[in-house]
Amino acid sequence: MTASIDTGLTQGERSGVAQQLTKVLADSYAVYLKTHGYHWNVRGPEFFSYHNLLELQYREIWAALDDIAERIRALGELVPQGGSAFANLTSIKDGDPEKDAPEMLKELMRDHETVIATARAALDEADEAGDEASVDLMTQRLAAHEKAAWMLRSSLGSR
Ligand SMILES: [Fe+2]
Repeated sequence: MTASIDTGLTQGERSGVAQQLTKVLADSYAVYLKTHGYHWNVRGPEFFSYHNLLELQYREIWAALDDIAERIRALGELVPQGGSAFANLTSIKDGDPEKDAPEMLKELMRDHETVIATARAALDEADEAGDEASVDLMTQRLAAHEKAAWMLRSSLGSR
């Protein structure tokens, strides 16, 4: 027996929003992996503060991945699984452990800006569909990535 979905959103609205959320999930996953990798590989006189800042940031993103994926499921769509499935859905490239600390932080800052743009597109789609729960989630993700970008920017000495 198939249990139908009646949450006040059409099938088209649900799948449209879920598709945008899937892009946010893939971008977020890529930034999570890079942040955790740079937490391990960052080097230099500021090692300890960068190492700790990146830990705060990867933990925050890790928790968000579950929220985004579960929102996609609540909309009735399946979540992609596996590294290559996610890699095909994002423009964010893997990190490079050879980079120096400022290059790592700058790259992450740009990646957060990429997620911000993707989350904003998802928010617009959710808003048009009248999907307040996804609007709320994307609003939270925008704030979190803007905060992360600010902290990286300020660590680099910019405002
Ligand atoms: Fe660690």
